Amino acid sequence: MKRARSVRRLVALLGAASIGAISTIVPAQIRPADPASKFTYEGGVANTRHNLTQRPIGGGAELMNPVRNDYGEVCVYCHTPHQASSALPLPLWNRTTRATTYTLPAARDAGASQPGTASLACLSCHDGTVAIDSIINMPGSGRIDRAQERGQNDAFLSRAWRNPVGADADAHAALDRTGCLSCHSPGSGRNAQDFTRALIGTDLRDDHPVGAPLPASRLGEFVRPDRSGDRLVFYDRNANGRPDPNEVRYYDAGAGAAVECASCHDPHGVPDGARGSRFVPKFLRVTANGGALCLTCHVK
Ligand code: HEC
Ligand code: HEC
Ligand code: HEC
Ligand code: HEC
Ligand code: HEC
Repeated sequence: MKRARSVRRLVALLGAASIGAISTIVPAQIRPADPASKFTYEGGVANTRHNLTQRPIGGGAELMNPVRNDYGEVCVYCHTPHQASSALPLPLWNRTTRATTYTLPAARDAGASQPGTASLACLSCHDGTVAIDSIINMPGSGRIDRAQERGQNDAFLSRAWRNPVGADADAHAALDRTGCLSCHSPGSGRNAQDFTRALIGTDLRDDHPVGAPLPASRLGEFVRPDRSGDRLVFYDRNANGRPDPNEVRYYDAGAGAAVECASCHDPHGVPDGARGSRFVPKFLRVTANGGALCLTCHVK
């Protein structure tokens, strides 16, 4: 079993008592040792590993300088206020999106398709094919390359940016074995946190289905979402009519409501209690403990 999102591992999270329609049960795997994160995981995305400047960790952040541009801002690795990508219809999207065909689990129902936008956004880092710092529009004026929308141009990435702190990057590493994982994996000898499970790759057969619409023939197996919003339907826990970060949702790009990565995860972090509290681990919207996340959607 390769990864955290492995369907069998996810099933294990449900706990044996609640298994019905979802039948494969294996014990949860012991996680490899992972030196604690230096981020606090509270307050905002800047205090999480999704801050790709890494600055909150202190001096260690400079270890990353040779392999990624330090744009000095958190949001810019994903968003830009102007000149956003036309390749991915997401809020002010700034990242390179390669044309990639993903290998999906064998469809149980007709209509399974490629991942939708609320998954492609994540896969633009987590499939390991695009550099972490591969963006269209860098901070400051005149540092823009529209070709970056669909392909990674290392010459642009190196030429257009000077790191404000420390050395400039001469390589633009992806979350893959020769890139970030060359230090961030066991046995690298670098004592860097283990990121192996964050490399999802392009083969999604071992993961929870994404891009898959709610199967019309098996609707009874799923809890019916009680609200709809702008291109999504969601479970309105606090009945305020809005899709809040701690509410699980399905995205609908026109072909029906589908599970995507952002159905379960919010890449900005979601407080696990009152505002200001620590985030639910792994950027989840709802804790996976006791099957709470799974049972939001699955009847059992
Ligand atoms: C040359 C080895 C090396 C490479 C390559 C490398 N890192 Fe690191 N990274 C480290 C080390 C060592 C630490 C721990 C530093 C510390 O704790 O102060 C670290 C820490 C981090 C952290 C903080 C982890 C935490 O939770 O505290 C993040 C995030 C990170 N790296 C991301 C990346 C990304 C993204 C890449 C690829 C673009 C990358 N690193 C490439 C060595 C490396
Ligand atoms: C690691 C990537 C990443 C970073 C960093 C990031 N975002 Fe996002 N953001 C996303 C994705 C992906 C979406 C789309 C999520 C969806 O469709 O539900 C999004 C959506 C949004 C939205 C639309 C509302 C929502 O939550 O769906 C706002 C507003 C936003 N981001 C603001 C910010 C700001 C401000 C920052 C910096 C402080 C930031 N983001 C940093 C990935 C990121
Ligand atoms: C700009 C690149 C980038 C984008 C876009 C991105 N991530 Fe990440 N993500 C990272 C890096 C780098 C890490 C650190 C690796 C790790 O924690 O194992 C990470 C870590 C994570 C983690 C583990 C966090 C932890 O505390 O261990 C989760 C879960 C995650 N990302 C989910 C997502 C999802 C879901 C999306 C889309 C909504 C997304 N990411 C978009 C780069 C990205
Ligand atoms: C049905 C809900 C669900 C969907 C959909 C989902 N995930 Fe997750 N993901 C989880 C849960 C639950 C965990 C925590 C598993 C654990 O800790 O063992 C997780 C863990 C992760 C991790 C952290 C691995 C680690 O331990 O460091 C990453 C990265 C991640 N997911 C990215 C993604 C991406 C990218 C997608 C879309 C391709 C996605 N997830 C789709 C539920 C989901
Ligand atoms: C956002 C709603 C949602 C959440 C949350 C969710 N699932 Fe699913 N899950 C679905 C949908 C919809 C399908 C059907 C996709 C298909 O068959 O094409 C599915 C399919 C599956 C399958 C494949 C077998 C089947 O019934 O098609 C497994 C196994 C599974 N989910 C387990 C889990 C586990 C374990 C969790 C909790 C970590 C979880 N799911 C969380 C909506 C969800």
